[in-house]
Formats: sequence, structure tokens, C-alpha cells
Amino acid sequence: MRLRDIMPKSLFGRSLFIVGLPLIFLQIFLGYFFFERHWDDVGRRLVLAVAGEIALISDKIILAEENHIIEKQIIEDSANFFGAKIKILPNTILKENELLHPKKTRLDRALSKSLKERIKFSHTFNTTISSNKVMIYVQLPNKVLLTEISKKRLYSSTTYIFIAVMLVSSLLLLSLAIFFLRRQISPLKELSNAADAFGKGDTFYALKPRGADEVRQVTHAFLDMRERIRLHIEQRTNMLAGVSHDLRTPLTRMKLQIEMLSSNEDKIGLKEDVNQMEQMLEAYLSFIKEKELEIGVKSDLSKLVGSIILDAKRNDDIISPKKIETIDAKVRINDLRRAITNLTSNACRESKIVEISLIKKDKNALIIIDDNGPGIKKEDYTSVFKAFYRIENSRNLSTGGLGLGLTIARDIARSHGGEIKLDKSHLGGLKAILSIPI
Ligand SMILES: Nc1ncnc2c1ncn2[C@@H]1O[C@H](COP(=O)(O)OP(=O)(O)OP(=O)(O)O)[C@@H](O)[C@H]1O
Ligand SMILES: [Mg+2]
Repeated sequence: MRLRDIMPKSLFGRSLFIVGLPLIFLQIFLGYFFFERHWDDVGRRLVLAVAGEIALISDKIILAEENHIIEKQIIEDSANFFGAKIKILPNTILKENELLHPKKTRLDRALSKSLKERIKFSHTFNTTISSNKVMIYVQLPNKVLLTEISKKRLYSSTTYIFIAVMLVSSLLLLSLAIFFLRRQISPLKELSNAADAFGKGDTFYALKPRGADEVRQVTHAFLDMRERIRLHIEQRTNMLAGVSHDLRTPLTRMKLQIEMLSSNEDKIGLKEDVNQMEQMLEAYLSFIKEKELEIGVKSDLSKLVGSIILDAKRNDDIISPKKIETIDAKVRINDLRRAITNLTSNACRESKIVEISLIKKDKNALIIIDDNGPGIKKEDYTSVFKAFYRIENSRNLSTGGLGLGLTIARDIARSHGGEIKLDKSHLGGLKAILSIPI
């Protein structure tokens, strides 16, 4: 077993462990030390005093030489001065085995030791007959002196008060520690939530630097980084949008010039190329425009999948639901619909049988689309996600789109903190797995 296995996992747990453990050790150590000393000093003195009193009474009874009047007087005096209840059991001899001292409890051991020290006659005692009294038997010639003493006279009750005070004060200290630790750790939790939200595409998650200096520094650093990345993305998107937009003017001019060309064969080829370029630019521009407008809301993903299946049916595409679980997740629903539709439309285009599943795995919702089409070779798994990339044999525009579908789908998945993975399907074609954290 390693230290890491027994340490709590969270920062709060660990901090509490670091504060609490020494506190508990200190309490145990102090408690044990005090308890021992207290018993040794106060406890032993109390027991010794009682033993001395009994020794004194025993001696007096012997000196009375069977004079009952004097004996009675001694018993009365003992009750008055020592608070001891005394009885004389006449003609009684304690047997050998009755003289053994009990040694079970701490009180037993202290009594045994002190009585032996003080009383010169054979004697024994019993601490268990009554819960608050101790019986002490001393063998005198022909009779037994029975002394009944309250247990309160033999030990001090402050020991328990001390333990109670110790426990209450440590609980108080611990509650204070918990209160302050929670306050220290909450800014870190907030920061982690903001980082998580940023990973899922929320660049404006409200975050204020709070707490200890170091935590403030980390928060400031995070906020700076987030702002830089946001500006960077914005700048690049604007630039690409600008370039795409500006390219449209020369393209339009080219189209006009082509119309004026005379040779027919070259003209058709060129026209097709220019048209394709134009479509690409349009697709790209609309992709940029539509982005980042939606905000995430908690939605039922099974409903979304159901409506995608219905939409496909309207286009005569059959998608069979295989296993659909009910999963709620905070998503940008239109974006996600677009991502899933991009995957299903590819599958429907490439094959006849298409299956869709929605399942929960770990902390992710998985949307899995299987088809029985030609599939994609393993070495193409990364390339198909590139913008405008289409596999060689589907270059023909009449059978497909521009090659932006997967790029957009993965972009949407990633901006939700998720991912798209490709694999071979059990149906023989492609398996696309879109995962979204929930
Ligand atoms: N289910 C599939 N089976 C076989 N090949 C596929 C499948 N899905 C995608 N591909 C291949 O990956 C390429 C890229 O797909 P992507 O969706 O990005 O573009 P597209 O479908 O050609 O065009 P767009 O989606 O922009 O209209 C496709 O051209 C196709 O060759
Ligand atoms: Mg596509």
C-alpha cells in the first residue's frame, strides 16, 4: 500500500488531512500522557489515602480488644470523619482463594498496589458488586472488617471533563479549518469549471480572480490566455472569410471571360472548375457565418436523433435506430444536428443500410453511425477530416459534396469538448463515433 492510496484524492480532502492528522495525533498523545500522569499522581494519592484510613481503623479495632462499645464508637467515628461505611463480620475467616486481588481494571490494579503498601493484614476487595461503591475486606483475628467506600473517593472525575473539553475543542477547530479550506478551494473549482467550459467552446464563462495570491495568479494567467486564443481564432476566421470573400470577385470575372471564349471543349472543363471553386467558397463562407451564434442548452439527445431519422426519411434515406438511450446534455442543438446529419448523409449516400445508436459511456454520450458501404481505408481516416478533401473515386461532384462535411462535423464535436472517431463497421462499411461529454 502506498501513501497515495490512502491519501484523499481531492485538494480539499488532502488539505483537511494535513490539518486534521496532526490535530488527531496531538489529541491522542496529550490525552494519553495526561491520563497516565493524572492516574499516577492524583489517582494513586486518593487510593493511598483511603488505604491509610482503613489501616488506621483496622488498628483501632484490634486495640479495642473485643470491647463492643469501643468498636461501635470507632465505626461511628469512621462514618463521620472518613465517610466510610463499616461493618464487622464476626467469626469469619476469609479463605485462601477469596484473598486473591482482582486485577482487571485500572482501579483494581491501583487499589491492589496501595492496599498492599498500607495494610499489614490479609485483605481483598471487590469493585464489581456495585457500580458506584467498592468493598474492602480486611481479615482481623476471628473477624472481618468490611469497609464500603464510594468510588468517587478513589478517582477524579475531571479526567472525563478533560477528555470532553479536548474533543469539543478539536471538533471546533476542525469545523473552522473546514470552513476556511472550502473558501480557499472554491476559486480553484471555479477556474477548473471555466477551463472546462472553454474547452467546450464557451469563451465567455464568467470568472473573477479570487482567493490566495497563487490562485489569483493562475486565474489571471488563464484569463489572459483565453483572451489571446479567442482573439487569435477571431482574427484567423476573419482573415479566411476575407480571403474567401475577395476571391469571389475575380472568380466572377473569370466566369465572364470563359463565356467569351470560343473553343467549346476547354470551355466546359474550365467552367466546371470555376463553378466548383465558387461552390467551395460559398460553402466555406456559410460555415464561418453560421458559427458561434448559438448557445448551449440542456437537451434530450434521443429526441434529436429521432428527428434526424425522420428528416432523412423525407429524403428517402432509411436510417434504422439500433439502441437509443435517453441522454440529457448541454449542447448547441442546431450545430449538433448539423454534425450528425453530415455523418448520416455521408452514410446514406455511400450505402443502403445505415444504423444509428445513442448510448452513454463513462461521462460521454456516443452517437454511432454504421453503414454497409465501401467504407474508408485506415490511412485515409485523418485526411477525410481535412477541408475540401474527398477520396479519389468520389471526386466526381455529382455523387457527393465538397468535402467539408466531416471537417464541419468534427469542428462542432470539438467545440463541445467532444470528438469524432472512425472505425470499421460490423456492417462492413464505415463506423463513425461522435462523442459529446455530458
Ligand atoms: N460513410 C462513408 N463511407 C465511405 N466514405 C465516406 C463516408 N463518409 C465520408 N466518406 C468519404 O470521406 C470524404 C469526406 O467526407 P465529407 O463529408 O467531409 O465530404 P463530402 O461528403 O464529400 O462533402 P460534403 O459533406 O461537404 O457535402 C467523402 O468524400 C467520402 O469519400
Ligand atoms: Mg459529407
